[in-house]
Amino acid sequence: MDFNDIYQIKDEIEQIQKTYELFNEDARLNRSKAARVEFLTNVRYIEKYLKTGGRILDIGAGAGEYSLYFARKGYAVSALELSSNNIRAFERKLHPEDKVELVQGNALDLSRYADGSFDIVLMFGPLYHLHGEEDRQQCIREAKRVCKDTGKLFFAFIPNDFVILTEFSFHNDYFVSGDYDKETFALEDFPFVFHTVPECREMIRRGGIRILHEVASDGISELMEERINGMDEESYQQYLRYHEYICEKPEFLGMTNHLLIVGEKG
Ligand SMILES: C[S@@+](CC[C@H](N)C(=O)[O-])C[C@H]1O[C@@H](n2cnc3c(N)ncnc32)[C@H](O)[C@@H]1O
Repeated sequence: MDFNDIYQIKDEIEQIQKTYELFNEDARLNRSKAARVEFLTNVRYIEKYLKTGGRILDIGAGAGEYSLYFARKGYAVSALELSSNNIRAFERKLHPEDKVELVQGNALDLSRYADGSFDIVLMFGPLYHLHGEEDRQQCIREAKRVCKDTGKLFFAFIPNDFVILTEFSFHNDYFVSGDYDKETFALEDFPFVFHTVPECREMIRRGGIRILHEVASDGISELMEERINGMDEESYQQYLRYHEYICEKPEFLGMTNHLLIVGEKG
């Protein structure tokens, strides 16, 4: 099975399952210094709002990078993930003492969780996998329902316009042969679903969420991967400070492979 076969699969859930049989999600955020920028940035924003004893729900938890990080800091974490392959990768890393309740499920239906039961709700995945706007709104509604009135919600997106540049860095002829509309520059939504920054903002506001932060989580880190990975520790720490300095600036917001929107119930 390769991505061409997965492209033919019509059932969306089956398509997500098969995507993560090919894609090594377990290594995505920790394979290099450059890859780590997204994780470190998102954690910094989560920690701005996380209070002692806070309960976390990680929806689309992948191989557990965020869940395990917070569980090992002593927080109670509930994690929900669709892909069997990612669940297996997550389980391989779980220690018996980790306070993580991991279940297989779909972000569209969080009925196993009571209303207002979490302080922090992470949704890093479903909104850039589900094709239907009504499905995405259902995910946002469910996330909002299970979040406390005082809680914070964190949503990840993959910005359309910057992915075109990232693809160009891999394929010399991308501007001619790439899978995007040559007039509108809208990418073909496979294997992810892409949105412009205004579309992400609109989606979240439509879901009744008041936006607190819009953040370029990884910025240009993937484009500059080789350079960043070659940095010594002092340079890398200063690069991270620079990234922190620019990551909420409107002029850099779409210049990222992952956009984070932080909000609260509106
Ligand atoms: C790129 S991974 C990100 C994993 C993790 N949240 C992170 O940020 O490192 C996206 C994840 O979202 C999961 N996902 C996509 N749609 C989902 C849905 N409808 N319900 C639950 N999980 C979903 C995928 O299976 C995948 O593990």
